[in-house]
Amino acid sequence: MTTLRQHPWGVAVRGLGRGLPERVVTNRDLEAVLDTSDEWIRTRTGIAERRVAAPEQATSDLAVIAAKEALAAAGWTPQDLDLLVVATATPDMIFPSTACVVQAALGAYQAGACDISAACSGFVYALSSVAAQIRAGAARRALVIGAETLSKIVNWQDRSTAVLLGDGAGAVALERVEDGAGEGLLSVYLGADGRGGDLLKQPAGGSRLPASAETVAQGLHYLQMNGREVFKFAVQIMGDAAEEALRRAGLTFADVDLYVPHQANVRIIEASAKRFGLPMEKVWVNIDRYGNTSSASIPIALYEAHQAGRLHPGDVVLLVAFGGGLTWGAAVLRWGAGR
Ligand SMILES: CC(C)(COP(=O)(O)OP(=O)(O)OC[C@H]1O[C@@H](n2cnc3c(N)ncnc32)[C@H](O)[C@@H]1OP(=O)(O)O)[C@@H](O)C(=O)NCCC(=O)NCCS
Repeated sequence: MTTLRQHPWGVAVRGLGRGLPERVVTNRDLEAVLDTSDEWIRTRTGIAERRVAAPEQATSDLAVIAAKEALAAAGWTPQDLDLLVVATATPDMIFPSTACVVQAALGAYQAGACDISAACSGFVYALSSVAAQIRAGAARRALVIGAETLSKIVNWQDRSTAVLLGDGAGAVALERVEDGAGEGLLSVYLGADGRGGDLLKQPAGGSRLPASAETVAQGLHYLQMNGREVFKFAVQIMGDAAEEALRRAGLTFADVDLYVPHQANVRIIEASAKRFGLPMEKVWVNIDRYGNTSSASIPIALYEAHQAGRLHPGDVVLLVAFGGGLTWGAAVLRWGAGR
């Protein structure tokens, strides 16, 4: 099998950014409106609080904040971008894409722009796709953004989903470098199993069930999830995906300096780390503060790990995601010295 490492160009991270709504909703706040408890949420999920977008705040608004910060960190202007891709399951609207909204807000008019839909695996899918464009010579500098306002599609009366989710955005600036530069994306692995689509979905609002008074009355525009089945799938697939990505990079779990998993449930994260033989000191966990922000969770976690000084030149970073679709993806990065 051909691996990305055999292509002539490498793909390096040049900057990271994050965009969060100001409003914090704690478990205690949810106790007041739902039949739930702080204790249940903490012990079953690891979540203590989450951010929730303001009524007038859309996904692109958070994405733009993250994008500007990543551009500044890279030392680029919006005009330096060739490509801008947003991974999201909660676009501002079906079309135009959220990436086009962000492109206009940034004034990055020369950049191609599109969204990628792979639910919570969206960031890894977008990273893989943009890296392939860079390696193929279609772009030199690009932004990959994971951005969500899941609060807008959550049924706030459904305790089985409402307590889990949060809003936010993370952005990564990517640049073409000489292969063998000793930094950047070492491997990616993507997978999907559409047979599990019913486990996690937003049934109405597309062409199967266009939005109507009936779909709204039946609550079909809300996110629906079979939590137990998704849990089982997640624990299995995170291990399989991580193993395959590391194999493609010619590395093992012993080489991993930091594991940055999708933040869906701390018990899923801990189970995967245990299977990998990684101590929790090598795992970035921030689900306690944000809940599950879907495609934004990995870039937000990466941003925070970098801010905290946990990423050093030469470090091997393992990203693993899973989500609706069903989808999964893993990527291995060697952290560089920056620009
Ligand atoms: C959703 C999830 C936290 C539920 O945890 P769990 O330990 O599996 O809990 P269960 O579904 O077995 O429910 C246990 C009980 O808690 C109840 N419960 C569910 N949500 C609750 C809440 N917010 N507060 C209090 N009780 C709750 C259930 O009704 C159930 O009660 P019952 O035994 O009387 O029927 C867990 O399954 C999970 O994290 N799944 C994966 C979700 C995920 O990763 N989604 C995103 C994919 S990207």
